[in-house]
Amino acid sequence: MINIAVLGYGTVGSGVVEVINTNHSSINKRAGDEIRIKYVLDLRDFPGDPVQEILVHDYEVIINDPEIDIVVEVMGGIEPAHTFVKRALMAGKSVCTSNKALVAKYGPELMELARERNINFLFEASCGGGIPIIRALNSSLTADEIDEITGILNGTTNYMLYKMSTEGCDFDTVLKEAQAKGYAEADPSADVEGYDACRKIAILSSLAYGRFLNYEDIYTEGITKITPEDMEYAKELGMTIKLLATSRKIGQDSFYAMVAPFLLGQESPLYSVNDVFNGIFVHGNVLGDAMFYGSGAGKLPTASAVVADVVDEARHLHRSLMTNWTSRPLKLMELDQVNGRFFVRVAGTTPEEVKNIFGYAQIVNLKSLPDEFAFITENMTQGEYQEKAEKLNGSIKAMIRIKD
Ligand code: HSE
Repeated sequence: MINIAVLGYGTVGSGVVEVINTNHSSINKRAGDEIRIKYVLDLRDFPGDPVQEILVHDYEVIINDPEIDIVVEVMGGIEPAHTFVKRALMAGKSVCTSNKALVAKYGPELMELARERNINFLFEASCGGGIPIIRALNSSLTADEIDEITGILNGTTNYMLYKMSTEGCDFDTVLKEAQAKGYAEADPSADVEGYDACRKIAILSSLAYGRFLNYEDIYTEGITKITPEDMEYAKELGMTIKLLATSRKIGQDSFYAMVAPFLLGQESPLYSVNDVFNGIFVHGNVLGDAMFYGSGAGKLPTASAVVADVVDEARHLHRSLMTNWTSRPLKLMELDQVNGRFFVRVAGTTPEEVKNIFGYAQIVNLKSLPDEFAFITENMTQGEYQEKAEKLNGSIKAMIRIKD
């Protein structure tokens, strides 16, 4: 018998209990032992819910119980999650978590604590919801030098952008829908400002490149400035707008990472990743291209990934599973040096002036917006773009990067 304790009975925690109850016999078979949820920790009571019988309000009960082998942290947030996880590992209990904020900030410390004790700290559910991307990076793509990860890593914003573009819904309505469906973070600004995707690309990049990418170093822009007019331009161009989280290795030892809305063409494998789905594109030097696709948020997909970690930890109770992630820092190049093309909306200027400044520019007009026009630049560094954009003397209404 493997005893586990689940910290937090919110969306993901209740999903973990449901998954373990629903697939009890196949999970036990795969784990090679019976998995028993001995405790659920939450400050609240749940009268009438069977979980009430195993509910505890005091973490000391769990940490001091030598029968608990695995602690499942699905509370979210940094504190008290960090203290609880650290204490569990120091007491020799393996931990799995869906908490991307915790992994992005304290991943190296917690992995080291687990390694020293021959136990495990696993976090499959922290990135891509139910998509097994972390297991793929840790154990399947080990023959490759990975040089790019680009993903739609936030289900809430992908759902919102999809609804805004296909049904013309407004921002606040679709955000409320995403919250009602259990996709959004407790503080939805983590989704719409891109912070959640930022932490996820930091985690995936750290695993892929074998160094610690500090999420605070990543340039991050959310979707709050995206308007129905931007969507109209995207349609006119046969493109779509997605919030992408991307990191690339340039040359031997140079990296960049960014989270921002991008215009994507239909040739992109991420173009058709819609609704709450996540898609993660990985490029390896021998593998070439690979795409991972699946449900990126929500109770059961996320719980499925958490329980897969429980099974893995049950099978390796006293053996540390290796990851490529080290605490050596990964330094990013200046964004000014990063190349790309730019879609720019302007008013109060002329196509001639734009061409004088930018050289080549593809001009786009929308009948519905007679007081403005847009243009697409040639490939240039972000620094060059900024320099030229300043010459337009305040005529720029919006800029969206293009994913080539
Ligand atoms: N709020 C997150 C999302 C949950 O929308 O992707 C899954 O990490």
